[in-house]
Order: sequence, then structure tokens, then C-alpha cells
Amino acid sequence: MSNARAAEHLVYLNGAMVPRDQAKISVFDSAVMLGDTVTESTRTFGHRPFKLDQHIERLYKSLKITRINPGMSPAEMTELSLRVLEANSHLLGPEDDCWLVHNISRGLSVAGADPTVQRSPATVIIFTSPMILTDWARFYVEGCHAVTPPSRAMPPQALDARIKNRSRMAYTLAEIEVKLVDPQAQGILLDLDGNIAENKGGNFFIFADGLLKTPYTSSALAGISRATVLELAATLGIPTRECNIQPYDLYTADEAFFTSTPYCIMPATRFNGLPVGDGHVGPVTKRILAAWSELVGVDIVRQGLNQLGGA
Ligand SMILES: Cc1ncc(COP(=O)(O)O)c(C=O)c1O
Repeated sequence: MSNARAAEHLVYLNGAMVPRDQAKISVFDSAVMLGDTVTESTRTFGHRPFKLDQHIERLYKSLKITRINPGMSPAEMTELSLRVLEANSHLLGPEDDCWLVHNISRGLSVAGADPTVQRSPATVIIFTSPMILTDWARFYVEGCHAVTPPSRAMPPQALDARIKNRSRMAYTLAEIEVKLVDPQAQGILLDLDGNIAENKGGNFFIFADGLLKTPYTSSALAGISRATVLELAATLGIPTRECNIQPYDLYTADEAFFTSTPYCIMPATRFNGLPVGDGHVGPVTKRILAAWSELVGVDIVRQGLNQLGGA
């Protein structure tokens, strides 16, 4: 984005719409001091937000449990979010889409003081960002290499994975271990019992024994993309099951894929160096991706591949 265009890019910050380079928070904000922030990431399809209501609902569940008072109702948050999208829509090309991101912290913190006390209005940040798919796009065609790191998913007894938060150190350290194995690989975190939990930013599915299976949300975020896949599978007559999935089940599965807001579905065709199924993106994965494209009126694979310079 050029500098002139960047100045037109407006961010909502604590009651005002400000140009992107003026959207600044205090170094004493609890987001910085404590990573004390809940978050949501929604995406658009054809410039329209996808399942914004569900993202706002999940955001308010996270706010409730973390006891952060955002100072506005879900309806007001939704209205503001639509205003941010609207204010920046002219920056999007006709084929482009964007993220709509919410970051909400407990506000100002004081070193050494009780971190549970909200001492100021929450810091409320809403911004858009171009939906850049270049890191993932080729996986629609080739599939990615999924790798399990030695680090395990944070146990829900310590932090419930359903609270979508910005304390990402555990995920990042695990992903560093994954990249040591293969710099292009995507991590699959196991829980303490050795069951597949999730990825640093996505849920996971396998297709095996004629069933589309996904882990429970006991150690994974209740992903909105995950829910979308379960809905699409029901429409397509593909039977689904939530269950424990172990590495053995993935080694021997016919197909596997990740789900997340930006890429929707990312096929995995290798697991810890071995092919998943025949090592190619499978027919069930392709059917669900096609159904998702139809649902949103955007060819998801083509949009990604176009960013690589050829569809
Ligand atoms: C840890 C984690 N798991 C799963 C997901 C996928 O959730 P969604 O499909 O709602 O994007 C995310 C999304 O950011 C995530 O951060």
C-alpha cells in the first residue's frame, strides 16, 4: 500500500477513527505489559464480512470470562465494525478481500499492581488488513506438510483454548520447533494425552473410514471455520464425528486439512514426512472447498492462486 493510501487507511481506536500511522497505544497498556488481550479475526468474501455475528458472539464470551469490560454492547461493537469496514472499503480492489480484526485489552496497567483490576476503559482496536494469501495459496493445490512439534498444546486446565486471546507465546515456540523440521511445514499441536488439538491458528480434520473427523474443542478453539465445515459436510451428506484423533489416525487417514478464517481450508498431504492417503489433495476436501466457494460467491482457491500470479 502506498503512503498516500496508508494515510486513508482508518483504524478504530478508543472512540475515534484515526489514520493507521496514528493508531498508537500506551507502552503501559495491559496488552503490552501482560499480553492481556482478547481478539477476533473475521474475513470478508466479496467485501462482505463472513459470520460477523458469530465472531462478535465469541468475542463477548472471551470478554466475559476474562472479565474485560469493553464499554459497549455486542450490537454497538457490530455497528462499529461495519463502520470500519465501510471506511476502508475503497482501498480494496474488486477481487480483493480483507481481515477485520478486533483486539481488546484491559486498558492501562500499573507495574506491580493487581493485574485483575481494570483501571481504565478497555483499549478497543478494530482494523482491517488486506487478505494476503500468498503463504498458503499453493497448498490448495499441493497440500502442506503437517508436523507435530515436541511442545504440547496449553492444557485447558491452565488456559481454555476457547478463549481467543493474544497470549501466543506457546503457539509461537511450538511453531519454531516445527520450522526446524521443515521451514514450510504447518504445526499440529498434540494435547497432553497425545491427541491432536489444533494448529497455532487453525483447527484440524481428517477423512477416514468414510467419516469426516475433527477433535473436540476441549483443547482447541471452537473455530468458526470448523463449524462451517461441519455445516457444509451436513449439506453434502458427508457424515461427521467429533472424537479423539491420534497421530496414528492421521498417518492412516485418506485425507486431512486445516481450517481457519483466512484460507478456510488448507489441505495437508504429508504428515511427519509420510504421505497422507495417496499424497494428493483428496476429493472430499475439494468438495467441501467448492461448496464453501459457492456459499460465499467467491472462488476461494482462485482468489489465493491469483495472488501468486496465476490461476
Ligand atoms: C488457536 C486457533 N485455533 C483455531 C483457529 C481457527 O478459528 P476460526 O476458524 O474461527 O478462524 C484460530 C483462529 O485464529 C486460532 O487462533
